Amino acid sequence: MLGSAREGGVTESLARRAAEGLPAGAECSWHQLSGLRFSGESASGAEGDEEACLKATLEHSDIVIVSPLYWYSVSAQTKLYLDHWATWMMRPDLRFRDRMRGKTLWAVSTFARGGAQDAEPLVGMLQRTARYLDMTWGGALLHRARSNGHLADPDARLHAESFFAAAPESP
Ligand SMILES: Cc1cc2nc3c(=O)[nH]c(=O)nc-3n(C[C@H](O)[C@H](O)[C@H](O)COP(=O)(O)O)c2cc1C
Repeated sequence: MLGSAREGGVTESLARRAAEGLPAGAECSWHQLSGLRFSGESASGAEGDEEACLKATLEHSDIVIVSPLYWYSVSAQTKLYLDHWATWMMRPDLRFRDRMRGKTLWAVSTFARGGAQDAEPLVGMLQRTARYLDMTWGGALLHRARSNGHLADPDARLHAESFFAAAPESP
């Protein structure tokens, strides 16, 4: 789930590199959260956008939140997506909670200043969300980006490639 306000940013490119390390045959789909309309926003097409996002959420074994660090947490669009998990939980026909149980939640994020500890609120919020829904926490891939859009750590792309191979932590 791509949560940056801009397409093709450094967080997305880090996530795409991580996806290259997925086992052969693993199916993976990408969803741009920015510009996504959710029903309740009274925008035409909102229902279709939301249903597609819901379908993607339910049909995958793993959900990867790909969000740059915005004010120490996820982007507004990512938060909006997660807020819809609560809406979906209230629809009994979906059995959302049952169907999320046992999936793995991961995070990929980049930040501009400081260190990875600045992303603690982002990681903590997602870990707790995973625990709340009886999901497994996969882990967080965090790297600092320079203002030119490149990753500060020359080994970041190498780390990314082995990210999904790491054993998920218990919820
Ligand atoms: C609204 C906003 C808030 C931000 N907040 C932080 C922050 O709290 N800490 C930080 O290190 N960088 C912050 N940044 C910088 C971004 O996290 C950083 O530039 C990131 O690499 C952008 O990723 P992208 O290219 O995928 O959009 C912020 C940027 C924006 C636009």
